[in-house]
Amino acid sequence: MALMKIYHYPEPVLKQQASPVTSFDDSLRQLAGDMAETMYAAPGVGLAAPQVGVSKQLTVIDCSSQDEPSQLIALVNPEIIARDGEVFEEEGCLSVPGFFAKIKRSAIVKVRYQDLTGQAHELDADGLMAIACQHEIDHLNGILFVDHLSPLKRSIFRKKWQKIQQRQEEQL
Ligand code: NI
Repeated sequence: MALMKIYHYPEPVLKQQASPVTSFDDSLRQLAGDMAETMYAAPGVGLAAPQVGVSKQLTVIDCSSQDEPSQLIALVNPEIIARDGEVFEEEGCLSVPGFFAKIKRSAIVKVRYQDLTGQAHELDADGLMAIACQHEIDHLNGILFVDHLSPLKRSIFRKKWQKIQQRQEEQL
């Protein structure tokens, strides 16, 4: 396994609609393994393939806390088929490091996906897992969490992001 480079906003691959996965082979499992390692090293609770420059419908998620056993899951070609309720929680993203904002999401989602062997499943998610599923599936459709901000908050984000990038350049 290997750590992968995480692409940051506004890298074009993050805005692309990712292609469906059609071959469930060793290279897919290798990619999912490398993505999981990269996610844990960051650390983060989710990582989508476009974030490592691969425009494919694959995401890995692990919402377990540090004292819990791993709940790593790889979702291939995931799709939200039902949703209910509303939450408004603070989110961040490994592709927008240093910026956090409250985003409106559904409280409960049902996700249809395939596992790394191509087997179809459905997953009922609530709490942090529901938010992570929506955030990661958005990535596969070229949507970042900052795209959900109001125009005013988005312009605040752009100014803050410039400052964050300037600070990062100064540290290099
Ligand atoms: Ni993200």
